[in-house]
Amino acid sequence: MEQLQQIRSSFNSDLKEAQSLTDLEQLEVKFLGRKGPVQGAMKLLKEVSSAERPKVGKEINEIKQEIEQALQDKKASFESLELEEKLAGETIDTTLPGRRRFLGAEHLINKELDHAIDTLREMGFSVQYGPDIESSYYNFEALNFPPDHPAMDMQDTFYIDGKEVLLRTHTSNIQVRFMEGNTPPIRIIAPGKAYRNESISRRSHVFFHQVEALYVDKQVSFSDLMATLEDFFQRIFHEKVEVRFRPSYFPFVEPGMEVDIGCLVCSGEGCPICKHTGWLEVAGAGMVHPEVLKNGGIDPEEYSGYAWGMGIERLVMLKYGIQDIRTFTENDMRFLKQFA
Ligand code: PHE
Repeated sequence: MEQLQQIRSSFNSDLKEAQSLTDLEQLEVKFLGRKGPVQGAMKLLKEVSSAERPKVGKEINEIKQEIEQALQDKKASFESLELEEKLAGETIDTTLPGRRRFLGAEHLINKELDHAIDTLREMGFSVQYGPDIESSYYNFEALNFPPDHPAMDMQDTFYIDGKEVLLRTHTSNIQVRFMEGNTPPIRIIAPGKAYRNESISRRSHVFFHQVEALYVDKQVSFSDLMATLEDFFQRIFHEKVEVRFRPSYFPFVEPGMEVDIGCLVCSGEGCPICKHTGWLEVAGAGMVHPEVLKNGGIDPEEYSGYAWGMGIERLVMLKYGIQDIRTFTENDMRFLKQFA
């Protein structure tokens, strides 16, 4: 019985030393394990006289239960302490001022592109989209480019796979694509990105936005084209703008022209944006070439059409007096914020 008392007191003093859950696990092994004193006492029980045995046996059981209970209580108190500490570390100061969320805004180019699309919709065009990654066929051959045309050179075009797959150099790739699956009257616009392997400068970039227009019907005339473009520019700029048409060459139109508008930044007096000419080129246009109509499955004897491709960056630069096309893609917040 004296030895049993000793187990009890040595356990109690060990327990006081215990600091952690692992300490408790070790104590459990030490006192209740197979080689521990409680098991040892059990084994000695048979040496105790049969008269004393029930009393001693009962005492051993009690000690075992006491130890188990004490370990459990201590474990629970460690755990709640741990939780308290964890919670203390997680306190939230509800008096701190909130953090302002940063709100993004539509990019100026998208805003103006949408405005152009809405305007052309009002004028009777429906919107179509062509792929940015295009075959050489729809970007060039179907549009009547001769096989050795300089635009097809690696210097000007980003090729993806040999010379068959490329990043479209203009939104005109929609023209034959759309004609193939549709019959006149066709009156569509195709907004999107175009890519050119050019050196980057204030006035040109390797990627930019265009809005293509294609109108095919019976008796579509050159004056329809000019009137529609003039109407569009008045609607876009909400003021009278000078429009100038210059003869020019594109393989997919005949006749072809370039469309300039009077520089709004300097009112025609000459500034860096218009290269001191008073005019800014904003579109290529013309009457759809008979070969292109044929490639689209449309009879050029019966139908005629016009097409144009307009550079959106140029229009936006003109409208807002922006001097450098690179600012659109540099993501300088000081620039972007002005138009948010
Ligand atoms: N695709 C031509 C370009 O990007 C523009 C254009 C479109 C010219 C339609 C004529 C007709 O320069």
